[in-house]
Amino acid sequence: PFTAKCLKSGKTVEVEEGQSLLQALLDAGVPMDYSCEGGVCGTCIVPLVSGEVEHLDEFLMDDEKETNMITCVSRGVGEIEIDV
Ligand code: FES
Repeated sequence: PFTAKCLKSGKTVEVEEGQSLLQALLDAGVPMDYSCEGGVCGTCIVPLVSGEVEHLDEFLMDDEKETNMITCVSRGVGEIEIDV
């Protein structure tokens, strides 16, 4: 499990094992666009502000991973901050 603090919406979501960050955000009422839910289309991208992320997508280039994450497949470690 990990925690995502959402700076724009002011929400903090807990993401359990077996649940995606995307799903946790949608459940919390954070408006999110998405399509493939498989880490390839890039629609569910969010700006990453701080924290360590395990990037599991096939979309981001290495130099984009410092400041972005793909919420349908990638996971935070501990606590992360995203700008949604
Ligand atoms: Fe396609 Fe997340 S919805 S990459």
